[in-house]
Amino acid sequence: ETEFSLRPRTLAEYIGQDKAKENLSIYIEAAKMRGENLDHVLLYGPPGLGKTTLSTIIANEMNVNIRVTSGPAIEKQGDLAALLTNLSENDILFIDEIHRLNRSVEEVLYPAMEDFALDIIIGKGPSARSIRIDLPKFTLVGATTRAGQLTAPLRDRFGVILRLELYTVEQLTEIVTRSAGILGIECEAEGAVEIARRSRGTPRIANRLLKRVRDFAQVLGNGVITREITDEALRRQEIDQLGLDAIDRRMLTTIIRNYGGGPVGLETLAAAIGEESVTLEDVYEPYLMQIGFLSRTPRGRCATPLAYEHLGLTPNGRPQPAP
Ligand code: ADE
Repeated sequence: ETEFSLRPRTLAEYIGQDKAKENLSIYIEAAKMRGENLDHVLLYGPPGLGKTTLSTIIANEMNVNIRVTSGPAIEKQGDLAALLTNLSENDILFIDEIHRLNRSVEEVLYPAMEDFALDIIIGKGPSARSIRIDLPKFTLVGATTRAGQLTAPLRDRFGVILRLELYTVEQLTEIVTRSAGILGIECEAEGAVEIARRSRGTPRIANRLLKRVRDFAQVLGNGVITREITDEALRRQEIDQLGLDAIDRRMLTTIIRNYGGGPVGLETLAAAIGEESVTLEDVYEPYLMQIGFLSRTPRGRCATPLAYEHLGLTPNGRPQPAP
């Protein structure tokens, strides 16, 4: 899978997230010096910033195996018990979307994380008893879009909590250039910067745009990614100068036109535009807030004057008259 080959394999290759990276490298080195498992790690932040990538890097740097699963995939206590009992000493268990674990599964995780033990009930009724099975000392790496979605007892059992941030244009330019090199795409510097500028702070989007722009460069141009072919490719995909797509713009214009600029509740907004509220909250809002187009208030979401200006709308939601 090409997507996988674009993923950096070591911390040294991993671009951005400098704070998380520096601290993580110290925790990894210390655990290796002591010959111990790394403490449990919680990675949180918007989707597409490299949480899965970081977890495989942690495994590589620790020279241990990684098992990858996700909250929704672990349906029963026995599913988790099977995963845990198959780990080796210091191995990593990566649980993506860990906030979606069900409660009964989560309860198996508490003694596993804290005491490296599995409590199993044998039998039914008055003769039922509980036996404790020792587990290898493993590292749980959990990933979630927002740490606030986690229950307190689960969150409290992570020794390392790392928040991933949206990437800068400079960092994304480096990532696009690196990915173009790996994929054998000729990409001019101005083309890479333009893709980076329109990637909403997100490497996954940058790599996706790179591949789509390459398609246009091959069919409409001479295969080289230039500033011009990037502009044309993104225009055709309805991605604007700031990287906003049709849904970003529909969110903002709906707040402005239907709700007077806000505040409007998230659920109301989601229903109005026909998207899931969690999608709006996790995927679309982080970047719109980062660039100052959207504010969250206790009474709901508001579009800011910057959003009106970008969309060319007057305060009453009408198109800005031509100057
Ligand atoms: N590809 C995707 N994310 C990356 C990152 N953070 N560093 C390097 N390459 C990447």
